[in-house]
Amino acid sequence: MRKLGIIVLFVALAAACENKTSTNTQTETQTVTEKTTKQTPFPDFGYMVPDYKGEVFVLSQNYPDSLPKQDLPPFFQTDYKKDWRKYLLEVQKYCFEGNTEVDFKVLQNKVRHWYHMPWQHYGPQAREGFHGLTQEAPVKAMQLAPTQTDTNTGAVAVGFYNDVAALTIQEVWKDHYHPNHSHNMSFKNGSVLFKILFVTLPEDIAVKQVPWLVNGLWWDAFVCPDFHDAEDTDQMRYRRQIKVALVQMDIMVRDDRAPNGWIFGNFQYNGKMNKADKWENLVPVGLMWGEDPNDTTNFSNAKPTRTIINPKLVETIINPDSNELPATHLGWNSRLNGPVDNPMSSCYSCHSTSEYPANLPMSPLFNDSLSAACPPGSAGWMYWFRNLKCGEPFTPKSHSMDFSLQLSQSIQFFYNWKKSQGGLYSNDYAPAPPAAPAAAGQPARMAKAMLKSVPAHHRATLKPDTTGGQVDYPIGFPASK
Ligand code: HEC
Repeated sequence: MRKLGIIVLFVALAAACENKTSTNTQTETQTVTEKTTKQTPFPDFGYMVPDYKGEVFVLSQNYPDSLPKQDLPPFFQTDYKKDWRKYLLEVQKYCFEGNTEVDFKVLQNKVRHWYHMPWQHYGPQAREGFHGLTQEAPVKAMQLAPTQTDTNTGAVAVGFYNDVAALTIQEVWKDHYHPNHSHNMSFKNGSVLFKILFVTLPEDIAVKQVPWLVNGLWWDAFVCPDFHDAEDTDQMRYRRQIKVALVQMDIMVRDDRAPNGWIFGNFQYNGKMNKADKWENLVPVGLMWGEDPNDTTNFSNAKPTRTIINPKLVETIINPDSNELPATHLGWNSRLNGPVDNPMSSCYSCHSTSEYPANLPMSPLFNDSLSAACPPGSAGWMYWFRNLKCGEPFTPKSHSMDFSLQLSQSIQFFYNWKKSQGGLYSNDYAPAPPAAPAAAGQPARMAKAMLKSVPAHHRATLKPDTTGGQVDYPIGFPASK
């Protein structure tokens, strides 16, 4: 039975990757066409200053039905391993063009189309109305700099999808009331996703505690100044109009040249660069195209006084220039991760869990039983550090949302909303899809089921290597309480 499951999985994968090759040749007949079917639009945001009179966030949701006919951007020719720096800066430029001058109000971009993910307006962490920022993760003391004592801060962020990526949003959300998650999703070659992240550190202490926030870029936001309130359902009690400081930029590129289909990249703010255009103070941290699944050493640099580069990693490259890149913690055993990310994880690790329904949390640390059963470096732990390919689900019984966590979240949020209306629709009555596991502390029954989702050979725990210090986590997304 298990074998059959694996065969089915491989067939599904082959199909996902076939998809990718056929769309690789973007023929002239393919054009961006706008949706013709009229549907109730997705809401733009969830929370805003009452009676605000200025310009508010508008969701870019005119998703295309077909591939654009333009050529792939030039960085699809750049050797991302040899010329990693050039590659990262080219992707950054592509994401900035037409956007920085309109403050990332992407509907006003004159150079190219960018889109947002629907359903991020839902729940306590929902988008606010200035820039569409969602509440992400708390930031621990000393995570950003040794002088950072503040413990109330959190990260807020907004993500964007280019026209090729938006095609997959359209595939899932063509029918606004019946998301399609019937098969493994697969972003097409040429998809570019990016996210800009800010911290809620108060302006008067920001530079004193985090020196690289000097010459900062600040945005208005309607969010919780104290991030301990970020998951409270009574959000209007806690949200305030405050300024938030740019700290990080994330990129994800679907590139057929990468062994597993995806390249992740990261930038950290460094105001000491003092660039005329402050967006350019986002300096390269590095990139990764795989998990280095054989590296099982347990190490984490959670309170960084310097950036520690692991020379054994062959699928992560980190910027070695410590003048340009302020001390940063990176991810588990120095895999790529950004300053507000969880130092016990990595971009690739968290994002590989994107599936619907989500059978496992983004890290074993987000569940007490999993955490006990899968100590860092054990075979169970390494289930989160596999080299999954694009379009491959994290667990055999689910469908891949192809590394996009906003995509899997959007479906989950939709069903949560649907259920919370308190009634069922007779015309589409069907057993409700299983809910995604909560971040932490779920009932023992659910934990047992989750443990079963980790295949037996990964459950047979190896003796973990415990050479690492400073592991006083878990933190991360979703926030653990
Ligand atoms: C602890 C888990 C975690 C880690 C580590 C992580 N992410 Fe994410 N990421 C998320 C979640 C959850 C979302 C969806 C919600 C949101 O946007 O915040 C997301 C969203 C994104 C998006 C928006 C596109 C999408 O739909 O997923 C991009 C781009 C992204 N992350 C890139 C990165 C990069 C690059 C890194 C490493 C530098 C990284 N992430 C590390 C959890 C993580």
